[in-house]
Amino acid sequence: MTPSSHGDLRARTWAFVRARRRPLLAVAATLAILLPLGWMRQSSLLPDSYDVAEMGYVDWGGGPVDQHHGMGHGTPVKDLVADPDRPADVRETLTVRVDDDHYTVNGTSPGPTLEATVGDLVEVTLVNDNVDDGITLHWHGVDVPNAEDGVAGVTQDAVLEGEEHVYRFVAEDAGTYWYHSHQVSHEQVRRGLLGALVIHPAEADPGTQEELAVLHRYAEGATLNGEKGTTTVDAETGQSVRLRVVNTDNGLATLWVTGAPYRVLAVDGREVNGPGEIDDRKYGLPAGGRVDLGLVVPEGGVRVDFGGSTALVLGADPSGGDVPRAPKEYVDLLSYGEPAEIGFDTGSPDRRFDYRIGKRPGFLDGRPGMWWSINGHLFPDIPMYMVTEGDVVVFEIHNGSGDNHPMHLHGHHAVVLSRDGEPATGSPWWVDSLEVKNGETYEIAFLADNPGIWMDHCHNLVHAAEGLVAHLMYTGVESSFRVGGRSNNSPE
Ligand code: C2O
Ligand code: CU
Repeated sequence: MTPSSHGDLRARTWAFVRARRRPLLAVAATLAILLPLGWMRQSSLLPDSYDVAEMGYVDWGGGPVDQHHGMGHGTPVKDLVADPDRPADVRETLTVRVDDDHYTVNGTSPGPTLEATVGDLVEVTLVNDNVDDGITLHWHGVDVPNAEDGVAGVTQDAVLEGEEHVYRFVAEDAGTYWYHSHQVSHEQVRRGLLGALVIHPAEADPGTQEELAVLHRYAEGATLNGEKGTTTVDAETGQSVRLRVVNTDNGLATLWVTGAPYRVLAVDGREVNGPGEIDDRKYGLPAGGRVDLGLVVPEGGVRVDFGGSTALVLGADPSGGDVPRAPKEYVDLLSYGEPAEIGFDTGSPDRRFDYRIGKRPGFLDGRPGMWWSINGHLFPDIPMYMVTEGDVVVFEIHNGSGDNHPMHLHGHHAVVLSRDGEPATGSPWWVDSLEVKNGETYEIAFLADNPGIWMDHCHNLVHAAEGLVAHLMYTGVESSFRVGGRSNNSPE
């Protein structure tokens, strides 16, 4: 054997060994990846039914820990209702139907506008005519008792076909609100299961003309109170108008006023203190949010445009029918209006939470993909924010997810303390729906004064269905309902 053929043989032997080993290594490497992936996928699968109070992990926000939490005692959610002995002041029946994927409430979409006066007890009977998936009604922005909040699987069972459900709550705060389904909400809301709710102040100004603009984009396009294009209403020169705008869509609505200056009278059902006149700014209305604009109709009329697709003209059209150009800058509520008392001290909060929104690869109920994360965790392994009644609570919401998120906390109004470290200097800026743009950090505070289990989620309802959902829970409260189960409760 020549040295070269010897070398040759060795080379061939090694090549043979390597060739044999390569698939083994490949198999081992594949398993090393697949086994944990399989486990991750498996562990992301949601059970047929589950209690939201038991999913994820508990976050006490640096406040006192309740050792008994989750041990099956406390007030059940279903008992957190309005005074059952008090008779109703306003009574309505809302019947929901679906035909060819279009939802209607009493035959229309948007459904009828519910109106009440502050202090009224509102009683609404929801009837499910023919919706297979079941339905609920959530009173967006109204801080109702927990059992009236309308979240399938959290505060009630979905109302199945042929069934009905009664909601009762006191209209405590005058303002502009809306109602929508919170069962398969990313489908049902988009397809029209919604309407407005206006709570009038005890003494409404009789000299003010009230107008409402419910914005909704159906499969057929953008609408204003169900109508496409421009809507014209009569208004006298010199008439002062309060225009209540509701954004029922998944994204920010941009509005601008042509022909007259305007004021931002109220945001998310809370009056702005000392609202100044605005004439060269547009307004960004978050998904789920509401704004009340104040204007005085000038001689040539005034026009409000919504994203360039729908418009409301009061009196004459100052633009002669063309879509006027939108101002470049947005109104910044961080410095708009005059400061005032907020009613509690945010200096040393009882609890401080992080709500850091990100996006990362993983599995959502077994589906691989890039999903929204909360504090690095994917749904359902998300924080349960725990509070005790009476706590002053501060949330730091940071958005590093690459997209914007209109964040909505149920059952409470929070006041904005700062954005990106810059303190709020204007009117107290109370929100239930807050646009948190990519890269932004907001600090908000609220008083924990409404016991229950409350959703705290993104109101781009597609994002919510993709897992951008957490909950706020009070100590001394226990679940009454489960997601899934007999009613197929599916809040997102
Ligand atoms: Cu308007 Cu949980 O939503
Ligand atoms: Cu979102």
